[in-house]
Amino acid sequence: MIITVDGPAAAGKGTLSSRLAKKYNLAYFDTGMVYRAVGLQLLKGNIDLTDAVAAEKMAHELTFTKMMKLSQDKDFRSAAGGNAASVVSSYPGVRSQLLDMQRNFAKNPVFADGTPAQGVIYDGRDTGTVICPQADIKFFITASSEVRAKRRYDEFVAKGMAADYKQVLADVVARDERDANRKDAPMKPAEDAFIIDTSDMTIEQVYNCAVEIIESKYK
Ligand code: DC
Repeated sequence: MIITVDGPAAAGKGTLSSRLAKKYNLAYFDTGMVYRAVGLQLLKGNIDLTDAVAAEKMAHELTFTKMMKLSQDKDFRSAAGGNAASVVSSYPGVRSQLLDMQRNFAKNPVFADGTPAQGVIYDGRDTGTVICPQADIKFFITASSEVRAKRRYDEFVAKGMAADYKQVLADVVARDERDANRKDAPMKPAEDAFIIDTSDMTIEQVYNCAVEIIESKYK
């Protein structure tokens, strides 16, 4: 089984995807990690984020193992890391270099400990449209920008990271704009995606709604 969960930043994709992965025993690929890995290397190397050639080279050299190692860095999930990921993800050359790595995962999905899995859940922006259009079930998870900024802000605070709500909101809006206006792979729901607006829903409600959709398809 292949499930894709797309949508804007902080809509609740990660939480939903990991719960669904656990319930249906699926490997999980958070595809934002590939862009975070490239963006982080630019930040660490003091390379300007506008250097699309350097970004493309890093994307070309990225391996799954390298990405997992970079994900341990404290800045991988920081606001600066998210912003860098968003910038590099707008370069068509970077996206094309990272396509195979994301697509190949569905051919040989593995759990975090390396053991093989029977299926995969992808989480990202374009996984139902570009990475895995053949997926069995596609979700597009969204919420208002204010709700998403509040969720991201709470996450930073819970992790003890410095955060300012207004700045987080401005970042969310800027990232939405960049993600939605990419020429090659704009963030949009697949035509056959189930769209869930989580603005007024709890995590539990979103999870139950997704499970109901999956179970009704396989009844
Ligand atoms: O989901 P995230 O916040 O980790 O994603 C970081 C950035 O990566 C996001 O701003 C847009 C980009 N991204 C993308 O372009 N395509 C994906 N499939 C996943 C993420």
